[in-house]
Amino acid sequence: MSTKKIKENVYAVGVIDWDRRLFDELIPLPDGTTYNAYLIKGSEKIALLDTVDPPFASELLNNLKELKVERIDYVISHHGEQDHSGSIPEVLASYPMAKVVTNQKNKDLLKEHLLIADDKFIVVADHETLSLGDKTLEFIFAPWVHWPETMFTYLKEDNILFTCDFLGSHLATSDLYAKEGPKVYAAAKRYYAEIMMPFRPLVTKHLEIVEKLNPSIVATSHGPIYDQPKYILAAYAEWVSDAVKNEVIVPYVSMHGSTKVMVDYFVEKLMAQGIKVKPFNLTTMDLGDLAMELVDAATVVLGTPTVLAGPHPKAVYAAYLLNALRPKTKFVSLIGSFGWGGKTVEQIAGMITALKVEILAPVMVKGLPKEADYRELDRLVEDIVEKHKKGVSNG
Ligand code: FEO
Repeated sequence: MSTKKIKENVYAVGVIDWDRRLFDELIPLPDGTTYNAYLIKGSEKIALLDTVDPPFASELLNNLKELKVERIDYVISHHGEQDHSGSIPEVLASYPMAKVVTNQKNKDLLKEHLLIADDKFIVVADHETLSLGDKTLEFIFAPWVHWPETMFTYLKEDNILFTCDFLGSHLATSDLYAKEGPKVYAAAKRYYAEIMMPFRPLVTKHLEIVEKLNPSIVATSHGPIYDQPKYILAAYAEWVSDAVKNEVIVPYVSMHGSTKVMVDYFVEKLMAQGIKVKPFNLTTMDLGDLAMELVDAATVVLGTPTVLAGPHPKAVYAAYLLNALRPKTKFVSLIGSFGWGGKTVEQIAGMITALKVEILAPVMVKGLPKEADYRELDRLVEDIVEKHKKGVSNG
């Protein structure tokens, strides 16, 4: 039996995807993931909260059969993304009396993406409640964590907050509850970095809502759930804060080794100054590892050769990600080698306009670095040391 009881008449009925290794054809999932769904049996009505990724629809339906669920009155949809909503059509086919309960924005999305008929919906307002008899659901809109329609459900009698993606993690585990430790922390941080970081101001706002409710359980839609929510809330508070650490991230690519010579020298000099440094070879790096480092680092220095008159496409990819993920990074620079010219600096600068950063003078070198070029790299190290002296933590 793969369902788990959370409280009296509240069950986890989702599935574990042990083998998934890529999400959105972009995000690596080194530890798989779960698609959590929940069943709440009230004295009068029965609600299913979210569904699962469509390939697992039959597993979800089997879980419901195991719990002898003969009737579902409401399918609560917190989020239109298909890993949670994609099996709603199969659930409606098996439970034709069920209505989909969600907000107007999500209704519009579900109609377009899943072709669910208009008359299958009940549209709710922010903070509207729905009685299941002896259990009451309150819907709390939480837009942009991470789509415009995202919302939470608060189960008042049991003090459980269902947050869907928010506070989740891509971690396949048979544990219902998160066990505090490096594995859970890293998975949650990776998830925050990849999914939530671009919406940091709204994440901050929604964290306040969660803290105010003070739920005894935070039930997410991915990964283990939290029966000690303070753990994940404290971690998020640190990640969303404006504080940056005394760290430099160096995503780089090198074609014939000249840029690598510069990166190696630069990294060593930073280390000698007591700065934590993390170089990422862009030809082999894991996007999630890079995103995680971007959560806290004060500075990013991109290393790229010039090819076809501009930055290497791998460096373009890194710059695009940096701009899209919008970390709280405060300083950015560029180092690299060129053969005869090009517009590498201008093109990279034009790609990171969403970042609120100070650009430190780049070091672009013709061919291999010479004595004067090494002094320029020393100057960039000194610039970073000086900038970090003001307002970065060594935590
Ligand atoms: Fe887990 Fe945004 O879907």
